[in-house]
Amino acid sequence: MFSMAIVRTPAKSLVDGITTAGLGKPDYDLALEQHRDYIRTLEACDLSVIILDADERYPDAQFVEDAALLLPRGAIFTRPGAESRRGEVAAVRSVLDDFYDQIDTVKAPGSADAGDIMVVGDHCYIGLSERTNHEGASQIISALESHGYTGSTLSISEALHLKSSVSYLENNRLVVSGELCDAVEFSGFDQIRLDQSERYAANCVWINDRVLVARGYPKSIEKIGATGLEIIELDVSEFCKLDGGLSCLSLRF
Ligand code: GLY
Repeated sequence: MFSMAIVRTPAKSLVDGITTAGLGKPDYDLALEQHRDYIRTLEACDLSVIILDADERYPDAQFVEDAALLLPRGAIFTRPGAESRRGEVAAVRSVLDDFYDQIDTVKAPGSADAGDIMVVGDHCYIGLSERTNHEGASQIISALESHGYTGSTLSISEALHLKSSVSYLENNRLVVSGELCDAVEFSGFDQIRLDQSERYAANCVWINDRVLVARGYPKSIEKIGATGLEIIELDVSEFCKLDGGLSCLSLRF
């Protein structure tokens, strides 16, 4: 169960965030409204939410999840794969020093976005992507092992991050889409396979037996709802335009 979350207010510069989506520029006011809704939802899921200030230098900083991997026995700060995002980590770290004694940091030439890391119990699956390289993953696995966890890698190519295509809903349940439907690493899970046309919905978030799912994906809602978990639909259209999703918008711990 989680009790805390960290989010970061989007800066006006979010309109210049990195994107491959081809969906146009996000509307800042609408993004802020969606972000406020997101915070209210985290609170409704019984989380205390720490809200970091916007920083105009970092158009992608609302995607706080990429800056750190937070586990019960330690925190690992990343070195984001996109150079424009590296400075985002400091603000996240400044609030977490109070919560963690055991802290590790990915160092050059390693790079990693924590959107590429899916936690399943004591094991972390790490996607090797355009953002997360072998060296970054290897440093993370060493840090995990020092805290009594394990890690393994798999290569991804279709989406920005591992968790763009797969989410763990606890109790061996995995929402999966695209290239990861056939990944041998995930063959032992109870898979909820999403249609290709709704693959964006694969980035959903388990929080204390509720699941946050992006609005606008009815077939996925039905499939995920069949688990019996309470579904909360949220509109994240403006973050989708920046290749971001529900999980990237917070760090839960
Ligand atoms: N726009 C989010 C990212 O590319 O990291």
